[in-house]
Amino acid sequence: METTHRIIAGDARSLSELEDDAVEMVVTSPPYPMIEMWDELFSMLDPEIGEYLEDGDGRAAFDRMHELLESVWMELRRVLVDGGIACINVGDATRTVDGSFRVFQNHSRIVDAFEELGFEPLPELLWRKPVNSGAKFMGSGMLPPNAYVTLEHEYILVFRNGKTTRSFEPRSPLRYRSAYFWEERNRWFSDVWTDVTGTLQSLGRDDADGDAELRDRSAAYPFEIPYRLINMYSVYGDTVLDPFWGTGTTSIAAMVAGRNSIGYELNEEFLGRFDERAEAVPEYSRAVVEKRLADHESFVESRRDEGVEFDYEAENYDVPVTTRQEKPIQFYVAIDIEETADGYVVSHRPIEQTDWPDARLTGDATQL
Ligand SMILES: C[S@@+](CC[C@H](N)C(=O)[O-])C[C@H]1O[C@@H](n2cnc3c(N)ncnc32)[C@H](O)[C@@H]1O
Repeated sequence: METTHRIIAGDARSLSELEDDAVEMVVTSPPYPMIEMWDELFSMLDPEIGEYLEDGDGRAAFDRMHELLESVWMELRRVLVDGGIACINVGDATRTVDGSFRVFQNHSRIVDAFEELGFEPLPELLWRKPVNSGAKFMGSGMLPPNAYVTLEHEYILVFRNGKTTRSFEPRSPLRYRSAYFWEERNRWFSDVWTDVTGTLQSLGRDDADGDAELRDRSAAYPFEIPYRLINMYSVYGDTVLDPFWGTGTTSIAAMVAGRNSIGYELNEEFLGRFDERAEAVPEYSRAVVEKRLADHESFVESRRDEGVEFDYEAENYDVPVTTRQEKPIQFYVAIDIEETADGYVVSHRPIEQTDWPDARLTGDATQL
């Protein structure tokens, strides 16, 4: 299996390189309106935003920033197939403007905009960011009533493009090969994620998951966010679009998950630094898959210790699974990545039963 990954240096308010229905899924995290690190970018794209901020008119600046994002959301409606899923990661902003502290609810503005465009809102996810607990209540004191809660979560807003779901032929082999494990379903489809930590520590160096400084400056999300979402809402060979590509975490996740990807990004510096991340994809992909397999083996062991019997065997691996739907589950690893004139081409190899005994991390595969 081969997948392709295109990165387009440009403004996602016009996805003119993409035809209608070009992608099956969208995973993205826009610049967050009213978070100061993005003021300059928003003001560059619309100079009146800078003027509103200077005049202390937070409400007007907030509105204009969302209008700018809405041009991108409108394009998504066109390029995403009917029934395709869009996942938007966003946080709300707290800020003092013109002497008044308040919250700017980015998530609700985005839900309204998508609904207005004809997307169907689906149940959303919250994920808790790791926070520095010492500093988080600084300045709030112990006296009621004028302290404010600290925002420690972000949203993953989930939308379907239109009213109907994507259709597959009955017992579609592609769809069944793309299955996830029952125990993964239980974690991934629960609406609050508290176990997203960031890096794959077993690799222990700056690699596909990115170096810390670059991640901070781009507000990159942890690899697990796009990786889980892609596995939850697309099948092998689908194309995933990220219109606010940043450092390309979505493309890395698509490469590891055996999906194609397309990214749009304005900041040329981020584009230039993708090579070093891409090089590490084969090693990273192996570690990610090995971790999933090892976790499944631990799950089987602990269930058996509890006296649970499994009714089904996986077809491609000599392990039990909980449900009939998981039987055809098939894993792939990226074995090679090549840069071409049109982007990157990744070659994937299926993980065979014979790989399975080796497909266990020997060391400390702590967190994905
Ligand atoms: C929050 S960051 C995305 C981080 C990304 N998820 C990652 O993991 O690296 C938002 C990105 O959108 C880019 N951006 C903002 N407006 C854009 C536009 N109109 N078109 C394309 N890219 C844009 C910014 O330069 C920034 O890199």
